[in-house]
Amino acid sequence: MVAPEARAEELRSELARHSALYYAGTPEIPDADFDALLTELRELEAAHPELAAENSPTQAVGSPPAFAPVTHTRTMMSLHNAMDIGELRAWDERTRRRAKEAALDDVGSYTAELKFDGLAISLRYENGVFVQAATRGDGRVGEDVTHTVATITDIPKQLTTTDPPATLEIRGEVYLKLSTFNQLNEAAKAADKRTYVNPRNTTAGALRRVDSQAAAEMHLSFWAYQVGVAEGSPELTSHHDSMSWLAELGFPVNEHCQRLKNLDAVEKYIDKYAKDRHAFDYEFDGIVVKLDDLTTQQALGADSRAPRWAVAFKLPPEERTTKLLDIKVSIGPSGQATPFAYLEPVFVSGVTVTTATLHNADQVAEKDVRVGDTVIVRRAGDVIPEVVGPVLSARAKNAKEWVFPSNCPICQEQLIRPEDASATFCVNYDCPRQIRGRIEHYVSRGAMDIKALGERNVDRFVTLGLISDIADLYSLDYDKIGELEGFGKISVDNLRTAIEASKSQPLQRLLFALRIPEVGFTTAELIAESFGDMDAVLAASVEEFSEIDGLGPIISEAVHEWLRQPRSQELLQRLRDAGVRMTAEVAAANANVAQTLEGMSIVVSGKLAGFNRDETKHAIVSRGGKAQSSPSSKTTLMVAGDDASPAKVEKATKLGIPILDEPAFTKLLHPD
Ligand code: IVH
Repeated sequence: MVAPEARAEELRSELARHSALYYAGTPEIPDADFDALLTELRELEAAHPELAAENSPTQAVGSPPAFAPVTHTRTMMSLHNAMDIGELRAWDERTRRRAKEAALDDVGSYTAELKFDGLAISLRYENGVFVQAATRGDGRVGEDVTHTVATITDIPKQLTTTDPPATLEIRGEVYLKLSTFNQLNEAAKAADKRTYVNPRNTTAGALRRVDSQAAAEMHLSFWAYQVGVAEGSPELTSHHDSMSWLAELGFPVNEHCQRLKNLDAVEKYIDKYAKDRHAFDYEFDGIVVKLDDLTTQQALGADSRAPRWAVAFKLPPEERTTKLLDIKVSIGPSGQATPFAYLEPVFVSGVTVTTATLHNADQVAEKDVRVGDTVIVRRAGDVIPEVVGPVLSARAKNAKEWVFPSNCPICQEQLIRPEDASATFCVNYDCPRQIRGRIEHYVSRGAMDIKALGERNVDRFVTLGLISDIADLYSLDYDKIGELEGFGKISVDNLRTAIEASKSQPLQRLLFALRIPEVGFTTAELIAESFGDMDAVLAASVEEFSEIDGLGPIISEAVHEWLRQPRSQELLQRLRDAGVRMTAEVAAANANVAQTLEGMSIVVSGKLAGFNRDETKHAIVSRGGKAQSSPSSKTTLMVAGDDASPAKVEKATKLGIPILDEPAFTKLLHPD
């Protein structure tokens, strides 16, 4: 079982990676999949408040909308896992012991069913009419997704009975059929849109769409697997019978749900379905074993997380073999050379895989995969396909070890692997891939945000020789663009407006957009906020950069080095001449607030009773001051709250910087 904290960590690092890829202009997954990962993390943090972290991506602004909360009548529980037959047997023994303690003769029969890989939802019916659907959420409170679930044709909107229960709440799994998933991807490809990564995340994304029509177009499906609350229902004595009853009411109940007499039969069931997995039009990642008798279920009850009467047997990730046709190197937008495997198409866990990354030179060497090898391919959980390794017994005698190419496949310049690095790079600034990469990054969402100029147009304009660097964007030949296919007057005007608008983006975005080595968005923000304008940034020494909290010597050196290069200075000059803004955004510095701190650089360390971190910063910046994180020769004064960093206090003292306490600081802000 993956511990919640481990999963939360994994999700945070995945989200951070996808964010970075997104901002670098090389997203691996569509937005909906990103949102699904974020939803999972949010739900996990809601269920385990101790896991919530201040730096979690769930705390970031711009998160997807939250839907109305729905409190479940009965908690939607999770399942405990059994990773192998030993753990399954141990669960069975525990269950038998507990049954004895509860004065039961026996645990009775089991039911075995597939553990569908989708999203749990709860459906509510009143007098036979569908009224509400909610996600699981933290188990106690979920989100209202009635509008999207209503589009699922599998789900009855009216129960097929003349005598419906007054209230019925059932649970089940929303999922995407593999055939539907593949059709959606075919359609996305044909429309030149990004493809979906896997059915589960696509399902999660579809359920949380605001637009129900968009959800309807995803053609989701549903399996019912549990009765939650049934007021006024016929007497139900076993899980298996309750499933038959749900089927009678019109719910889709999976035909592989079986009643089994003993654990040997359960093991046979597991073996059979583990082998047959790929023959299904939907994904399942385990087998759920439940005690069939409902009275026994009740007697055994649940712990805080999951019932004691059920267990999920997890199937290992599916592995398939295929032929490694070739290994090629692809050059990323920042020049990174990544080897990837070209595979004979193979269907793994519901997706046809034709390529898989091999990450870097060391990985290829370690796995020792060679062109012509039969290789094992796996799609573990949500991750992209990977080559596990070669089937050595099937290797041809003359199979040659793969050697990392010495030259860039695009510009033919020599590839470089820096000392101590695992990655290899094309460092040719003029490599066409890098030119495109730099412009793609410059126009991307977190950077200058020129939406009207997508990746395809950047590619087109570079290929046609209309642009060869960022600054060229500001002297585009719009007449020529107007002659291009797909560009009418309106789209040319939109493009011009968007490019003009980008000139007023603040320094923090510009610094990020320039793709200075080592400078991500946060670093760009820190630099912009510390120095205020480009002239000050250009004049700064390595030491002055490293005085910024969070910058460190490597980043400081890299930024300084980049700014020293004549090529960078020339680029900045051209941008400046084009009218691109070179000053930082001063949060809410406006006429309403007197600029009493103008020219002051203020460091605040430790907690202040009357402010949180953002409020302190805002109080300073809105009065025209600069908020610094560490004292430096430029610091005007320091404010020390509770738990102020002794190192910072010491440094300020050494530099002779006045140190204020909170009351003095408040007085400074509100002199009258
Ligand atoms: S029964 C109280 N049956 O597995 C037990 N769950 O890890 C309720 N799932 O959130 C769950 N297939 O989304 C049950 N046949 C099945 C299932 C199933 C998939 C999911 C469900 C739940 C998760 C628990």
